[in-house]
Amino acid sequence: MEVVIVPDADAGGEIIAEAMAGLLRRKPEALLGVATGSTPLPVYRALAAKAAAGDVDVSRARICQLDEYVGLPAGHPESYRSVVLREVVEPLGLDEASFMGPDGSAGDVPAACARYERELAEAGGVDLQLLGIGTDGHIGFNEPCSSLASRTRIKTLTRQTRADNARFFGGDIDQVPHHVITQGIGTILEARHLVLLATGENKAEAVAQTVEGPLSAMVPASALQTHPHATVVVDEAAASGLKLADYFRATYEAKPHWQGL
Ligand code: GLP
Repeated sequence: MEVVIVPDADAGGEIIAEAMAGLLRRKPEALLGVATGSTPLPVYRALAAKAAAGDVDVSRARICQLDEYVGLPAGHPESYRSVVLREVVEPLGLDEASFMGPDGSAGDVPAACARYERELAEAGGVDLQLLGIGTDGHIGFNEPCSSLASRTRIKTLTRQTRADNARFFGGDIDQVPHHVITQGIGTILEARHLVLLATGENKAEAVAQTVEGPLSAMVPASALQTHPHATVVVDEAAASGLKLADYFRATYEAKPHWQGL
C-alpha cells in the first residue's frame, strides 16, 4: 500500500478530494463510497469547494454508504444516512436518487444486507472507497475478529467503539445502538481504489498495526495490505508510530506529480 504523510487534516482532505475529482473527470458517473465519523469531513468540504469553483463536474457522481446503525428511527440526525445526506450529498448539490445505503430500519436485516450487496454489484461496484479507521483498527463497522472475507451483514459494536461514538449522541453511550449493518471486509476489498484517512495521535497505534503489522482479523484495516490499490493518508500525529515513515516520505516526494493517488 502507498502511505502519504501530510502535515494536517486539511492537507489530507485536499489530496483525497483531488483524487476524487480526478476520478470524476475521467469517469463522471463514478460511484464514490464514503465514510462517516469526523475524519473525512475535510475531504467532503474540499470536494464541495472544487465543485463550487467549477473545477470538477460532480453532477453525475453516485454516492454509497459504508455502514449504518440498526434500529434508529428513520430520519434520526445521527443515522449514517442522515449524516451522508447532510455532509456529502447536499453540499455537492446531488439529489437523494444518486445515493444508496443499507436500510438500518428494515424489519428483516439479513435481507436488507443481501439487497445492499446486490445493489452495489448492479451499480458496477465502487470506484473509490474512502475509509476512516476506528481506534481498534476497524473499518466500516468491521470490529476486530471480523472475517477478512466477510460480506455486508449485521455486527455488534464493541464497548470501545460505542464509547468513541457517544460524542455524536450527546456523550451518552447508552444512546449509541449496539447493532449495525456494515459492508464486509470482502465487500470493501472489491472497491477499485481504497483510500484510508487517519488523523490525530489516537489513531497512531491502529495505523502502525494496519500498515506495518501482520495481516490479522484482529486489525480489520490490515486487510488493505491485500488490495492492489490502497492508499493510506495520515497526518504527522497519526504517522507517529510508523517505523518506515522516512521511507514513505521519500517515496511520495520522488513520485511523478501527475500520477495522483
Ligand atoms: C465509525 C465509522 C467508521 C469510522 C470510525 C472512525 O466507527 N463506522 O467508518 O472510520 O467511526 O471515526 P472518526 O473518524 O470520527 O474517528
